Amino acid sequence: MFKTRVTEKLGIEFPIIGGTMMHLSTPEYVAAISEAGCLGLLASAMWKTKDEFRAAVKKTKSLTKKPFGVNLNLFPAMRPIDNSEYLDVIDEEGVKVIESSGHKAPEELVPRLKSNGKTWIHKCVGLRYAKKAVSLGADMITVVGFENGGATGVLDIGSFVLIPAVAGALKVPVIGGGGVSNGRGLVAAFALGAEAVIIGTRFLLVDECPIHPNLKKALIEAQETDTVLVMRTLGNTHRVWKNKVAETIMELEAKHATLQDIVAAASGQKDKTMFEKGDVQAGTISVGQGVGLIHDLKPVKEVVKDIMKEAKEVVSQLEKVSS
Ligand SMILES: Cc1cc2nc3c(=O)[nH]c(=O)nc-3n(C[C@H](O)[C@H](O)[C@H](O)COP(=O)(O)O)c2cc1C
Repeated sequence: MFKTRVTEKLGIEFPIIGGTMMHLSTPEYVAAISEAGCLGLLASAMWKTKDEFRAAVKKTKSLTKKPFGVNLNLFPAMRPIDNSEYLDVIDEEGVKVIESSGHKAPEELVPRLKSNGKTWIHKCVGLRYAKKAVSLGADMITVVGFENGGATGVLDIGSFVLIPAVAGALKVPVIGGGGVSNGRGLVAAFALGAEAVIIGTRFLLVDECPIHPNLKKALIEAQETDTVLVMRTLGNTHRVWKNKVAETIMELEAKHATLQDIVAAASGQKDKTMFEKGDVQAGTISVGQGVGLIHDLKPVKEVVKDIMKEAKEVVSQLEKVSS
């Protein structure tokens, strides 16, 4: 059950991609996701030099023999990112799956994204971006609806409309996400035309996710109403958990504060401190509305098992009601 073109091509047991996460997608966490039968994705932008990135790839390879991939960041970033440097390492280390995500399809990188038998997945938030990436040769498209944690783009289309719009228009397989936190969500995404799901927020609340226990506790208590959008005024909208820092950023944006002030409040370094030290009001964390559906903290393998078990139960209930 749930064997699709995505699971076949990527060589994964379950139709689940672990969404890449800046500051968090370490070799240990990514390998745990891959070991659970999903596709883990390293966030290349976390490593400032080629050598540090190479060490991370090597470490991941030492922790799992199962497939994993690398995300290339195309979003605006505080430090200039040269993705061709990461691509050198990806090729030298034999990584076979690349996910690009960001504001613009990476035209200049395309020949390298697909060389050496690599599979190129492009993640975006709208049909027009998906079509553009496919026209450039993307092998698969991931779309995440407006509910998702992290970058939401500017189109603000919920998963319920976005996934079928994109799956219905493309011949390549579509991975759907934004709000998928359990087996019901997985089955819903499949019903909408997805051949796999991408999960970010649910995988924050697993034992292996490298955020402080205080933050995990706060997120388990969070409801679906506890996320907000920040950095829209900077053209880099992110859905994050609603804490004091998020509210401060929103206030600064509302009063048209300077770019410098907003960027200072939204600094990635503060976020990192919050993840590591556990002061849950020190920075922001990307979180999707699906946080309201998460009530436990377990090893990722157990979470994946629960999701697949529930998905099967939902399918058999549906068979009963539709017969
Ligand atoms: C804490 C966190 C950090 C994220 N960082 C990134 C990132 O650096 N690059 C990216 O493409 N997506 C990032 N995302 C988005 C996820 O990869 C994934 O697309 C999204 O979480 C799926 O929606 P969901 O959160 O509703 O499951 C992040 C998500 C979270 C929750």
